[in-house]
Amino acid sequence: MKLAIMGAMVEEITPLLEYFETYECVEFGKNRYYTTTYKGLDLVIAYSKIGKVNASLTATTLIEKFGAQKLLFSGVAGAINPTLKIGDLIVATKLAQHDLDITAFGHPHGYVPEGAVFIETDSALMQLAKHVAQTKGIVLQEGIIATGDQFICDSAKKEWIGKTFNADALEMEGASVAVVCDALNIPFCILRAISDAADMDAGFSFDTFLESSAKQSASFMVAILDALA
Ligand code: ADE
Repeated sequence: MKLAIMGAMVEEITPLLEYFETYECVEFGKNRYYTTTYKGLDLVIAYSKIGKVNASLTATTLIEKFGAQKLLFSGVAGAINPTLKIGDLIVATKLAQHDLDITAFGHPHGYVPEGAVFIETDSALMQLAKHVAQTKGIVLQEGIIATGDQFICDSAKKEWIGKTFNADALEMEGASVAVVCDALNIPFCILRAISDAADMDAGFSFDTFLESSAKQSASFMVAILDALA
């Protein structure tokens, strides 16, 4: 089984690379892909750089060039749902692009013809994540994640995204990874730990908690790998 583990920023995959200790690095498409094995699983790990276009390129490369059969995303997110606090884990049930807007033609936000507003994640991976959380006594919230090419640091914008997509958290890559995996028929899971509340303090909070929250997400990802192995 070849598994891809993806982040958006170097901070999001560094804890994984440190955990696996030995890996090889392959350069492709102005990016680096790290390969290793863990408990019989073949892993390919990469961070895409921020945003939907970079994430789409990296997800496609992980699948088409490196042969990933499942894709797991680990990283941080801004909270919309007030029950989500710094460091809390959320796994996406489905994802939408909050900045995709052809409403001028009568379509709902997040929709393009022949697409769908929401893309659902793999239910088997979701069940596995929930099972891992339960057995380890870790609180894992499930919910809708909204993605866009904007760092949200404005309560009004956050509320709009929350209301329009019924979203619990927001970030800048998940829904584009979902589009790629859905199109290429690859089961995927998007896991995030909260780094900020997407409000006026979000920039400061993100800088403060990026590393610790990324570690929270990465360590839960290792527990998922243990369960998959
Ligand atoms: N990722 C983490 N926090 C975020 C925010 N406030 N906006 C967009 N992406 C994020």
